[in-house]
Amino acid sequence: MTNNQLRTVVQAMPKAELHIHIEGSLEPELIFALAERNGVQLTYPSVEALRQAYAFKDLQSFLDIYYAGASVLLKEQDFYDMTAAYLKKAAADNVRHTEIFFDPQTHTARGVPMETVVNGIYKACQDSPVSATLILCFLRHLSEEDALETLEQALPFRDKFIGVGLDSSEVGHPPEKFARVFARCRDLGLHLVAHAGEEGPPAYIQSALDVLKVERIDHGVRILEDRALTERVAREGIALTVCPLSNTKLRVFDQMQDHNLVQLLDAGLVATVNSDDPAYFGGYMNDNFLAVFDSLPLGLSHAQRLARNSFVAAFLPAEQKQAFLDEVDAYFAALPV
Ligand code: ADE
Ligand code: ZN
Repeated sequence: MTNNQLRTVVQAMPKAELHIHIEGSLEPELIFALAERNGVQLTYPSVEALRQAYAFKDLQSFLDIYYAGASVLLKEQDFYDMTAAYLKKAAADNVRHTEIFFDPQTHTARGVPMETVVNGIYKACQDSPVSATLILCFLRHLSEEDALETLEQALPFRDKFIGVGLDSSEVGHPPEKFARVFARCRDLGLHLVAHAGEEGPPAYIQSALDVLKVERIDHGVRILEDRALTERVAREGIALTVCPLSNTKLRVFDQMQDHNLVQLLDAGLVATVNSDDPAYFGGYMNDNFLAVFDSLPLGLSHAQRLARNSFVAAFLPAEQKQAFLDEVDAYFAALPV
């Protein structure tokens, strides 16, 4: 199979996305359109000037711009439009199922009601042909009290999200800071995930598992620094939602050739490929897949494994999960040899 054929296979294969912040799908053009619609003053004079500011040196330098971009979201229709635009891109990349993160505190802190945020995003999911569920993320730079209060505000909409996550500035905000709120979410039957081991040390991955009891680790690429932890996570089948373009844009790796995705797979880990914040990092799902397949020694068997991993790690009922896995296997079985 030629490189071009492999690229086509990877683009067309059915896949799931498990790590996408919906606020990170807000394209500069939509930021400006919503700013105008809502009378919000932006500090950047043009789409081009805003795009030029997307030169990040680390996670925090990105988050500062990402939270500023989200300030144009005020009405339910804004949240709907943002989500609908993402789902259209996902469908074009043959994403069959997506589990979308949203950051309510970014909006409720500006006076936007929880109801506006959840309903706008949820309605767009319902109107899409892509299977889509929601994961509410707590901002780890804020207090656990703030997270607990946010959870209370979200409980009237409990049927509209399947789980909770933990994102924002990692270093200095270890998972154990959120032990109580995650315990409460666990009692509520919510799925649990957390960003860990993106910029933070492997110890954060360990405490996300042992203290928060998460079922997946978001990013987790620094796990290879701890061999015992790597072996444990592989043995337990805990998935990592890896985001290659994010990792190079935020300087977790200097260039894609340095990315450790192949080593993660070789270690037996359930690694998946995801876009994180596609409007800020240079692309959606297929851009991420093409970036790793162009830069790393990955072949057809890796493509099938990554597609399977994405559904294996998804929070889906067993029957639906198996149907997607069968679709992946049928797709690869039908490829010309
Ligand atoms: N919020 C949006 N993208 C994020 C990332 N990559 N890490 C932590 N928080 C985030
Ligand atoms: Zn993320």
